[in-house]
Amino acid sequence: MKTLRLRWRASVHPKPLEKDWRGLATMSMRGVLRLSEVQIRVMDLAAAREHYGARMGLHEVMQDEKGLVYYKPWDDHEHHSFILREADAPGIDYVAFRVYDDSTLTRLTAGIESFGLRVEHIAAGVYPKSGRRIQFVAPSGHLMQLYAEKELTGNTLGYHNPGVTPDEGVIRGYRVNRLDHVLLGGPNIDECARLFCDVFDFDLSEKIIDAKNDMSLGVFLSCSTKPHDIAFQLQDQPNRFHHVSFFLESVSDLYKAADLIGKYRIPVEVPPNRHGVTRGATVYFFDPSGNRNEVFAEGYVHYPDTPTLIWDTDEIDHLGFTHDNHMRQSFFDVLT
Ligand SMILES: [Fe+2]
Repeated sequence: MKTLRLRWRASVHPKPLEKDWRGLATMSMRGVLRLSEVQIRVMDLAAAREHYGARMGLHEVMQDEKGLVYYKPWDDHEHHSFILREADAPGIDYVAFRVYDDSTLTRLTAGIESFGLRVEHIAAGVYPKSGRRIQFVAPSGHLMQLYAEKELTGNTLGYHNPGVTPDEGVIRGYRVNRLDHVLLGGPNIDECARLFCDVFDFDLSEKIIDAKNDMSLGVFLSCSTKPHDIAFQLQDQPNRFHHVSFFLESVSDLYKAADLIGKYRIPVEVPPNRHGVTRGATVYFFDPSGNRNEVFAEGYVHYPDTPTLIWDTDEIDHLGFTHDNHMRQSFFDVLT
């Protein structure tokens, strides 16, 4: 009995973790921290502002001299994480990832070049509120950037005795908490998985394969405890945009978001449902330019030692949507 009690006490009073100069507990930190910025194209900026700002409830934080409109969901700490650019066609301009520090950026630059991709350097300040960036084109044809610094504006709660919820009106619309992930369409998705796993230290959390020949049809990649931070769907054409996803705190919030999406007559592809892949609760809908959006809640916790989950096309309906076991064909055919 005595031994058991001592062990128990030892386990609930662990030795405090050492702190580094940032005040962060020293632990296994990855070089790439998260998907932190997505810029998409819209054809009617006023209609898009109504969709993403007034309806969805993202906070517009700035419009720059080129007319780009910058947003943040309330609980993203950086100045902005989602940008709209008015253009002749919808789609995605780039995705950007926040990395731990400047030396990480330097290290990853060498890694990308060793992988065989050309790296372009962008000086601090070229992108607003941002330190220097590097950019490259992924094997799928998508423009991607990495940066280590961007202005921190917080989530309105502050960093000293922050409390748990912001003032009335900060959480609004679809109650979006944060930018969560993107799904991109293009060729060479196994090469993309290799880039993200070998160079950026992501994990391949899940993979969808063709049951006939084991060909990869979808790869899901995580640099965190999320089921995915980015995913790629096999498409013939490069640089296609499948969707950007925003995280909600609960399925209750997801259902309330669906109530508003219906109220505003926003085109819905998939009403509240649950993915087999990622186990996330989901709603899919479209912005006025035809870009697909998702609101997403739950999903499992991914750890670096979790084995890759494999799905094959014999279960295509269940891996897609588990409530009605019905994969939508538009999920493969409609990209911007
Ligand atoms: Fe998604």
